[in-house]
Amino acid sequence: MKQFTSVHDVQDIAALVNEALELKQSPYAHKALGQDKTLGLIFMNPSLRTRLSTQKAGLNLGMNVMVMNLDKEGWALETQDGVIMDGSTVEHIREAAAVMGQYCDIIGIRSFPKLQDREEDYSEDLLRKFIELTGVPVVSLESATRHPLQSLADLITIKEQTAAGKRPKVVLSWAPHIKPIPHCVANSFAEWMQQADVELVITNPKGYDLADEFTQGAQVLHNQDEALQGADFVYVKNWSSYEQYGKVLTNGEGWMITNEKLALTNNAKVMHCLPVRRGLELSHEVLDGPNSLVIEQANNRLYAAQAVLKRMLEAN
Ligand code: CP
Repeated sequence: MKQFTSVHDVQDIAALVNEALELKQSPYAHKALGQDKTLGLIFMNPSLRTRLSTQKAGLNLGMNVMVMNLDKEGWALETQDGVIMDGSTVEHIREAAAVMGQYCDIIGIRSFPKLQDREEDYSEDLLRKFIELTGVPVVSLESATRHPLQSLADLITIKEQTAAGKRPKVVLSWAPHIKPIPHCVANSFAEWMQQADVELVITNPKGYDLADEFTQGAQVLHNQDEALQGADFVYVKNWSSYEQYGKVLTNGEGWMITNEKLALTNNAKVMHCLPVRRGLELSHEVLDGPNSLVIEQANNRLYAAQAVLKRMLEAN
């Protein structure tokens, strides 16, 4: 594996999920693989789970791990080509990424969308430049449009919680929020679920449909109660409008998943990538109740990252 930026970088998804589950049983079995190899984790935005789980994944594989909050600790970065750098930016991505590639055997990068210009965000310019310029394998730690390590952990969690031979109904349900949130987790989840053996239903208010390229093949319902009928898993997530790019169009009254909503489902397990706004996206009772998988889901971030890093170490 040379890069991990979307589900399209994985040839055998079921095998990767199984590999992650094996690593969960024996996390230190491949410690020799990463000896004298360096993992660099570059963050342009905040993180708890991605930062700690990917760092621990590298350590479990015997790697040296360096973490840099580039937005705060690095020089102000210029990403546009051909500009005269007589403004506030100090270092061009052409040198910065190439230099990081000298120090690292694998690089992880997190860079959120600005939610100002849809074409710019959806071009994944920064991620593409990192891949081109570092010259080493690159793992997306969440980019402008996708969060593949999260989606892999989500799929691992669903697999763990599903009886053999059952094809579960998985509902991706939009949730209320107070500010514009990227589409990455929802896009990526939709994309991964369509490659998995599940029935995917997406439910969101009108005006919040995700981009067709991510939802093709999935049923999209604007009636949440109808969508929740018979669900085995409910994946809760807010995202801002794609059509009216980056806008918050409604306060989402009635869209929070509560025990009352769960009663419509097949005793569904509830998932959220975290961080979650309690009492707004998800009720306290659901988060603290027996159907919540959010902590185990976060635990599986470690084995998702470890499976991906292991494949990169083996292939390069
Ligand atoms: N789910 C997730 O990516 O969490 P962090 O933003 O804390 O890394």
